[in-house]
Amino acid sequence: MTTTVLNVSTYSFYLNGEWKESKSGQTIDIVSPYRHDVIGKVQAITKEEVDEAVHAAQKAQKGWAEISLQERAKYLYNWADELVRMQSEIAEIIMKEVGKSLKDARNEVVRTADFIRYTVEEALHMNGESMKGDSFPGGSKSKVAIVERVPLGVVLAIPPFNYPVNLAAAKLAPALISGNAVIFKPATQGAISGIKMIEALHQAGIPQGLVNVVTGRGSVIGDYLVEHKGINMISFTGGTNTGTQLAKKAGMIPLVLELGGKDPGIVCEDADLQEAAKHIISGAFSYSGQRCTAIKRVLVHEKVANELVNILKEEVHKLSVGSPEDGCTIVPLIDSKAADFIQILIADALGKGAEVVTGNKREGNLIYPTLLDDVNDTMRVAWEEPFGPVLPIIRVSSDQEAVDIANESEFGLQASVFTKDINKAFSIANKIEVGSVQINGRTERGPDHFPFIGVKGSGMGAQGIRKSIESMTREKVTVLNLQ
Ligand code: G3H
Repeated sequence: MTTTVLNVSTYSFYLNGEWKESKSGQTIDIVSPYRHDVIGKVQAITKEEVDEAVHAAQKAQKGWAEISLQERAKYLYNWADELVRMQSEIAEIIMKEVGKSLKDARNEVVRTADFIRYTVEEALHMNGESMKGDSFPGGSKSKVAIVERVPLGVVLAIPPFNYPVNLAAAKLAPALISGNAVIFKPATQGAISGIKMIEALHQAGIPQGLVNVVTGRGSVIGDYLVEHKGINMISFTGGTNTGTQLAKKAGMIPLVLELGGKDPGIVCEDADLQEAAKHIISGAFSYSGQRCTAIKRVLVHEKVANELVNILKEEVHKLSVGSPEDGCTIVPLIDSKAADFIQILIADALGKGAEVVTGNKREGNLIYPTLLDDVNDTMRVAWEEPFGPVLPIIRVSSDQEAVDIANESEFGLQASVFTKDINKAFSIANKIEVGSVQINGRTERGPDHFPFIGVKGSGMGAQGIRKSIESMTREKVTVLNLQ
C-alpha cells in the first residue's frame, strides 16, 4: 500500500502478506542523491513488528518446505515475469533512489529476472546422494545413507544500496526455492526499490508470511534482527565494518558475508595497454565506482606506467559526468558523507606527494573521476576502499612486488591481471589472496552462476547461484538399515 501526499509517497512495510503502516507512527525520508528531494518515505518499524514478521515467517516456512519444488518454482517464475513487466517502473525508482542511470537500473531488473529463473533451474537439477556403508572398513552393505539438502528455516537477507533489487533477489531467490522463509531488511537508501521488488513478488501470489519486508532505523531494529532467536541464517552484503560487527552479534548461525574490496588491477610489462585501460576504466568508474568489485588500485610495471597513465587519462576524459537521468557514468555519490570521505583520501594522498593526473573536482555529491599517480604505501588511498570514482596508480618494479602489495591489503575480493603471457597470468593468479582473479578482464561478480567469494576482510562464505542455494540449506542424512 502506498499513500501519496503532496507528491511524496509513503510506502508500507510488508508483514504476513499485507502492506502495513508501522505502529511507531514514524517514517524515514528517502532523499534522492542527485535531486536532493524526498522521493518517498518508508516505515520505521518497531521491535514488536520485527517479532511479528519473524513469527509469520516461521509459520509460513513449514508449509512452504512441504510443497513440491515444482510448485515453489512456479511462484518464482511468476515473480521473474512480474519483474520484467514492471521493469520500467522499478528502474525509475532505482534511478531516483540510488542515482544509477536508467539503462543500468533497467539492466539490473532484467538481470534479476534472469537470476531468479536460473536459480529455479539450478535447484530443479540439484540432487542429493546416497552412500553405502561397506566402503568403510567393517561397514555393511545393508546400511544406506540418503543425503539430501533441507532448508535452514528463516533467512535474514540484508543487501546494500548499490544493487537494491539484484543483490536483494540474489538472497531471496535461493532462500525461497530451497524452502526457506525470508526476512528482508533493505538498505534504507534502496528501500523503495526493494519494496517495489516485493510488490512484484506479492503480485506473483507468494504465500502470506513467507517474505516480510522490514524497514526501519538500524539503531532500533538492526542489532535486534541480527540477534533474533528466530533467524536461522544471515546473508549480508555491505561494508566490512558493519559485516564484522554483525558477525560478532549473530552467534552460532550460518553467515554469508560479502563485504568491501580493494581490488587491484595488475598491469604487467607485456600487457596490451589499450585493452587493459579499457577494462580498468570500466572496472573502476562504472556507477561512479560504487561497486564492491570496482578496480580500486592499479599496480603497474614502471616500464609501461607512463604509457598506461596517458591512455587512462584519455579514457577518463571520455567518461560522461552528471545526472543519472542523462545516462551518465559518473553520477553523484549516494550521500555527501561518501563524497567527503573521498576528498579526505585525495587530500591525504596529495599531502604525501601523489600527483593528480585528472579530476579532483567536486560539485555537491558529484566527484569527478580522479586519477592519482605516484601513490605509495604511506597514503590511505593505497589501502582504503573509497567506494567512489578515485583510482590510485602505484608503480611497481616487478610482478612479485605487485603481488606483495596486492596481498598486503586487508581485503581479498577479486583481482585483475593484465598480461599476454598465460603462464605469467596463472603464476600471479595463484599467488594472490582473493576470491577470484580475472585474467585480462575487469573485476566483477557475474556471470551470476560463477562462485562469488570474498576472503580476509572481504567476507566469508560464497555466493553465486549454486553456492547461495548450498549456503541456505544444510545436508541431512537418513540412514536406512536394511534387514
Ligand atoms: O557491489 C557489489 C556487487 O556484488 C558488485 O557486483 O560486479 O556485478 O557490479 P557487480
